[in-house]
Formats: sequence, C-alpha cells, structure tokens
Amino acid sequence: MNDGPPHAVPTGTFPDVVPVLTDGRVRLRAMSEEDLPAVVEQSNDLETVEWTGLPQPYDLGNAREFLAVHASDWADPRGVARCAIELIPHDGAPASPFAGIIDLRPGTKGDAWETRFVLHPAARERGAMSGALRLAARWAFDHGAASLYWCAARGHFASWRVAHACGFPPRDAAAAHCRPGARQHRRMGGFTASRTADGATHPVGRAGRPAR
Ligand SMILES: CC(C)(COP(=O)(O)OP(=O)(O)OC[C@H]1O[C@@H](n2cnc3c(N)ncnc32)[C@H](O)[C@@H]1OP(=O)(O)O)[C@@H](O)C(=O)NCCC(=O)NCCS
Repeated sequence: MNDGPPHAVPTGTFPDVVPVLTDGRVRLRAMSEEDLPAVVEQSNDLETVEWTGLPQPYDLGNAREFLAVHASDWADPRGVARCAIELIPHDGAPASPFAGIIDLRPGTKGDAWETRFVLHPAARERGAMSGALRLAARWAFDHGAASLYWCAARGHFASWRVAHACGFPPRDAAAAHCRPGARQHRRMGGFTASRTADGATHPVGRAGRPAR
C-alpha cells in the first residue's frame, strides 16, 4: 500500500512552476511584476502592518525583492510556496486582479505545514481569503502535508474568522507557539489551529506541531 502523498511539491522555473488553482470565484496563481504596485499598497495598509509586523516603509524595491523570493523559493522543494490571489467576477461582484497573497510552508516543522495570508484592503470581506485558504489547503494535503496549521496574534478576529470558516477551530496559544503581529502584540500570545485533510482537528503544540 502506498501511503505517500499523491504528488511531490513541484520545483522549477518561476512562474511556470506555480499551480493555477480555482474554485470559479477565487484564483491562485504566480505573482507577477504587474502586481507589485498593489503589493506595495497592501503592505503599507495599517491593518496589514498591525497584524503582520511587516517593516515600514514598504516600497517598490521591497516588493521587487519579495517577487525574487517567490521565484527562489519555488525552486526549492522545502521552500515557501507563495501564490497571488485573484477574485474572478462573480454574481455581479467585480474582479480584483490582485487580491492578496497566501503561502504554504512545508517541512519546517516535520510533516505539519503552516499557512500565512494577507489581503489587499480593496478585496476584504468578499470571501477571497476563505476561498484561497480552502484551495491552498487542498493543494497542501495533496502534496505531502500531514496537517496544516495557522496562527495569529491574540485578538486578531479577522484572521480568526477565516480560519474558523475553513475548518480550523481556533484556540488560545502561548506566545511561544504563535507568530507575533506588531510589537504591541508580541507578549500577548495568540490564536492557533491545525487540521488534516479529512477535517480532523487537534491542538497545536510547541512551534506549531500537533500535540501528541
Ligand atoms: C485577515 C484577512 C485576510 C481577513 O480577510 P477577510 O476579507 O475578512 O476574509 P474573507 O472575506 O475571505 O473570509 C472571512 C470569513 O469569515 C466569515 N465570517 C464573517 N463574520 C464572521 C463571524 N462573525 N463569525 C464567523 N465567521 C465569520 C465569513 O463568512 C468568511 O467565510 P466564508 O467565505 O466561508 O463565508 C484580512 O483582514 C487581512 O488581510 N488583514 C491584514 C493582514 C493579516 O492580518 N493577515 C493575517 C495575519 S495572521
């Protein structure tokens, strides 16, 4: 019996290596040069700064460096798999050619992968992230993730709602178990959750590993 993942994480030349995943409303794809002005806007947005702790100011040079990191990580089977998010026009709602970014972090904590995400402010509260997380989670489980976990600083209910909507029941976590937001959040602990492909959930232990 073969219990391995159906597919290995693909590696190769960016952007062709990046999968295109869609549910008809949200599309995940490779980030491109055309996205960079929107990446700058997203990265200077106050909510993004507060909850991700991204360095400020963030300019086109930072966005270009970030695009180069996308390319180099997709060449590495243990690298971070990042996708740009697009909103496809749907039921009268307009398109958002660049809606944000979601990433998957394989292998850094055994066979548990982590996901992180950010939306452009113009694409929020339209189901873009919940759609993106469902697509990304399915891809992760198909490519070797035994489980996928998410973390947010305590009090970050916008992120909490996305996790909850996608079958990750958030719990409180100690500061050591979660990624901090801006400096004022760093000692507050956080929210975290983990799930498997079949929807099983479990507490997340130290550094995101499922507790045994
Ligand atoms: C966090 C962030 C991505 C959330 O974006 P968003 O636009 O609210 O996300 P979505 O609209 O895709 O999804 C919200 C989900 O919560 C659900 N939701 C809304 N209110 C809810 C409530 N009171 N209780 C439970 N779920 C709720 C929505 O229905 C939706 O799920 P659905 O699509 O299955 O219906 C966005 O605020 C952001 O980018 N913030 C800045 C960067 C950041 O904080 N990143 C995360 C760091 S941990």
